[in-house]
Amino acid sequence: MAIRSIITAPDHRLREVSKPVETVDDGTRALMDDMLETMYDAPGIGLAAIQIGEPLQIIVMDLAGKDDEPEPRYFINPVILDVVEETAVYEEGCLSVPEYFEEVERPAKCSVEYLDYDGKKQILEADGLLATCIQHEMDHLEGTLFIDYLSRLKRERILKKLKKEQRLAAAE
Ligand code: NI
Repeated sequence: MAIRSIITAPDHRLREVSKPVETVDDGTRALMDDMLETMYDAPGIGLAAIQIGEPLQIIVMDLAGKDDEPEPRYFINPVILDVVEETAVYEEGCLSVPEYFEEVERPAKCSVEYLDYDGKKQILEADGLLATCIQHEMDHLEGTLFIDYLSRLKRERILKKLKKEQRLAAAE
């Protein structure tokens, strides 16, 4: 396993549309192991493969509390089957938009079909933070970031600040 570097906005690679995984094999699992290690190290609760520069439909997640046993989740080629009309608002953040947190409204529940770590088909009914997190991560597979749900003014302000921070970091 290895910790990979996380791409941050406004890097154009985050806008790429990820491709489905054709076969879930040891290479796929090695990538998921790296993603999980990278996510724990950050630390974060979810990571899509594109965030480490791999345009594949893979997501890893762990919503367990700090003092609880780890509960890693792996989603390969996820598809939303259904969402409810009811919405929920969470303050979202993203490892690719570091240090910024904003409220986003999304469907409160969703059911998602995906392949697990072993390549087996699964269906999950999600609500609460899990539902939000799945939708946030699945957005990454389409090149969408949570800041896209904010007003243009807010989004541009965040991107401008991120760019400036990156310039300063590069100059150090
Ligand atoms: Ni994210």
